[in-house]
Amino acid sequence: TLCEIGFVGAGVMGKNLILNLADNGYRVAAFDLDNQKLEAVLAQDAAEQGDKGPRVVGCSSYTELLSRLSAPHLIVLSVPAGKAVDDVCHKLIDAGIQADDIVVDTGNSLWTDTVAREKSYEGKFIFFSTAVSGGEVGARFGPSLMPSGDPYAWTRIKPMWQAIAAKVDPATGKPIERFEPGNPVTEGEPCAAYIGPSGSGHYVKMVHNGIEYADMQLICEAYQVMRDVLGMSAAAIGEIFVQWNDGPLHSYLMDISAQVLATKDSETGLPLVDVILDKAGQKGTGLWTAVSSLQLGSPAPTIAEAVYARAISGLKAERVKAATVLAGPAQNLFSEEQQADMIQALHDALYCAKICVYAQGFHLMKTAAAEHGWQLNFAEIAKIWRAGCIIRAVFLQSITEAYERNDELENLLLDPFFSKQISVYQQNWRKAVANASLAGIPVAALSSALSYYDAYRTAVLPANLLQGQRDFFGAHTFERTDKTKGKTYHVDWSRPERPMVKVK
Ligand code: 6PG
Repeated sequence: TLCEIGFVGAGVMGKNLILNLADNGYRVAAFDLDNQKLEAVLAQDAAEQGDKGPRVVGCSSYTELLSRLSAPHLIVLSVPAGKAVDDVCHKLIDAGIQADDIVVDTGNSLWTDTVAREKSYEGKFIFFSTAVSGGEVGARFGPSLMPSGDPYAWTRIKPMWQAIAAKVDPATGKPIERFEPGNPVTEGEPCAAYIGPSGSGHYVKMVHNGIEYADMQLICEAYQVMRDVLGMSAAAIGEIFVQWNDGPLHSYLMDISAQVLATKDSETGLPLVDVILDKAGQKGTGLWTAVSSLQLGSPAPTIAEAVYARAISGLKAERVKAATVLAGPAQNLFSEEQQADMIQALHDALYCAKICVYAQGFHLMKTAAAEHGWQLNFAEIAKIWRAGCIIRAVFLQSITEAYERNDELENLLLDPFFSKQISVYQQNWRKAVANASLAGIPVAALSSALSYYDAYRTAVLPANLLQGQRDFFGAHTFERTDKTKGKTYHVDWSRPERPMVKVK
């Protein structure tokens, strides 16, 4: 019998998506240039199936892959983002792929590459994309899927994607989790929704990753304050995170942070986190989000700060040198009573800053949608991030509800639930940022979120002076508060008594 779906790439993500599809009753044909990877997925399928027979067919060439699939062919690419995607597409063309066949890219591709690819492969095959979040466990037992592109392709793929996606209990908004091979979660709302035209799904996934960067950085800043100001051990901080994970900060990232902090190094017996070098890696998606926000003029400072925080962590050798040269404030450790206060302040700061990060991310998506003519459904996007993906959190249910109340919401901060939350917790947020600064601890993400909040709620910013400066040195003109909007003026700053020149 022919298979319904083919895979190119049986690496970590590919292998797990293949097994997830197989668990959901689909027959999968798979090909990987690296024969060991192919053998590994076949072996795992055999081990999980026992004597029930294989569900995955291994192929030794692109031609064989096509011959094993029912027409029109549906082929999923699970290869690294970038050149590899086009290499595989060309190989598929050489192997005889047809105009009505569908190729689905599931990598972390740059969204503009996806748009270009859809155009360049037109007439050769249908290039569709599905951004995937959730890491290897997500891929295996339920990822969050952000498909976009040709609507015909989506009707074909939809049942499969909804079957393999993570599921949410509609009554609680919480993930239904079961990590058992051969026993997939079939009930609940699937975290797979059509995002829009080509590129929009990868754009949304890019913003997801930007939020992921900021979420992670915020947790790391709270950790550093507890470590370096409160003098707490990794295990003690881990316990605080366990407590925090029980409230509004409940999230996958909080949970795994607690687990990382609780883990001991098998070699030294020390907390594992204490032997991990403080030099962060990155593959680019957070950077792309920050760049896009700068290009569109949609402020996402906390996401940008999270990227910069990784960059400055990368200057390890310079920092080690600078630490012996540059002075900080005199150390003032907290009394025990103040410690408890500071921990609570950090909790509240994290919560408020997190609201701002999502406000920035959703604002960016709204701006991009207007720019590119996408009809993004923000309640739907928040919904499919409730389970399966890296930023999954109870918090996403509140965001879903905010956009269900008002799908035109200009900024999440203006939703009555979130504005109330910040008004309740902001004093502690300010205290945490102020105390961290007084103690010399960098809290770029926590404080940039606070500045974002304060700027967004300020009716009159100092940009009036800035416009004066621009007009002074470059005759760049300004608008007047007391004249018609859009009319611009220039002053001869050496003779301001002379009448202003109306420029436009
Ligand atoms: C996800 C993750 C995933 C990947 C990150 C890691 O949603 O499943 O975001 O896509 O692990 O891109 O990114 P960095 O290596 O840049 O931290």
